[in-house]
Amino acid sequence: MTEKTTMHPPAETLHDNKDVFLKSEFGLWSDREGFEPGEQFLIENYLRPDLKTLEAGCGGGRLLLAMQARGYTDLHGFDYLPQFVEAASRRDTAGRISFRVQDARSLDYGDDSFDQLMYLQQVLCFLPEEADRQRAAREAYRVLRPGGVLIVTLLGLRGRTRSLAFKALLAYQYLLRKLTFRRLSLQYQPWLRLQNAPNWSALWDRGPYVYWFREPEAVELFTNAGFELAAIGSEAQVCEGRLAESFDAFARLPHSGRLYIVCRKPIDGAA
Ligand SMILES: C[S@@+](CC[C@H](N)C(=O)[O-])C[C@H]1O[C@@H](n2cnc3c(N)ncnc32)[C@H](O)[C@@H]1O
Repeated sequence: MTEKTTMHPPAETLHDNKDVFLKSEFGLWSDREGFEPGEQFLIENYLRPDLKTLEAGCGGGRLLLAMQARGYTDLHGFDYLPQFVEAASRRDTAGRISFRVQDARSLDYGDDSFDQLMYLQQVLCFLPEEADRQRAAREAYRVLRPGGVLIVTLLGLRGRTRSLAFKALLAYQYLLRKLTFRRLSLQYQPWLRLQNAPNWSALWDRGPYVYWFREPEAVELFTNAGFELAAIGSEAQVCEGRLAESFDAFARLPHSGRLYIVCRKPIDGAA
């Protein structure tokens, strides 16, 4: 084992994903900088710098600070860990970004408050139950103004199952869960990496878990909340510089990596 892997908190001390972010992944997200290519693609193609923008799960403010440097003027972010909100506020030396402690499942922003929303870095995949993900999607819909845009990235199961190693892991977990009478969907996966190194306790199928979406349910999560799908794709479409405009068109395309989704709140959509 490398020194890095021995630095992990023991799996039994990580009770939920909030714990993972605080005790294990905090340093990775509190002072990161700059955009990843897929994030840059979504932000440049679907958001506007002059509009009021909210980021869910802002961590140390990496994305909002990079957007401020690119001329975005009305930026807001929330995270359920006060420690991230403090780190992000400290880094915003101009003090012009509003950072708040809030949980995506229950926001205290008013109805129709924002022109555009960012739910990137798979923030909805860390919610433990389907009901939590549905509540978060409904809250996103409520705080977005009619005609506003939501950009999302999610962990996608189809992209992942292209990897033979992941397929083998799924088969192993299927057996393990059968033998131990656990009725947990294989879409719930233990964290496969912690602190940028393999998380070997994943082999014991220990939680906390992250949720890997199937594409139809990912789209339904947002359309059931009231959104219209505007564009969808995976890493493969981002590399080509163009997302599909409908779910059916996407289903026919090659697929790799994360899911990228763009939604709109209908002009006549009520909060
Ligand atoms: C993968 S990190 C990404 C941080 C930041 N968005 C970035 O890209 O640098 C996910 C963040 O979402 C936050 N988070 C997870 N679930 C949340 C929830 N239900 N409500 C608010 N924040 C949440 C975590 O605390 C963490 O800061």
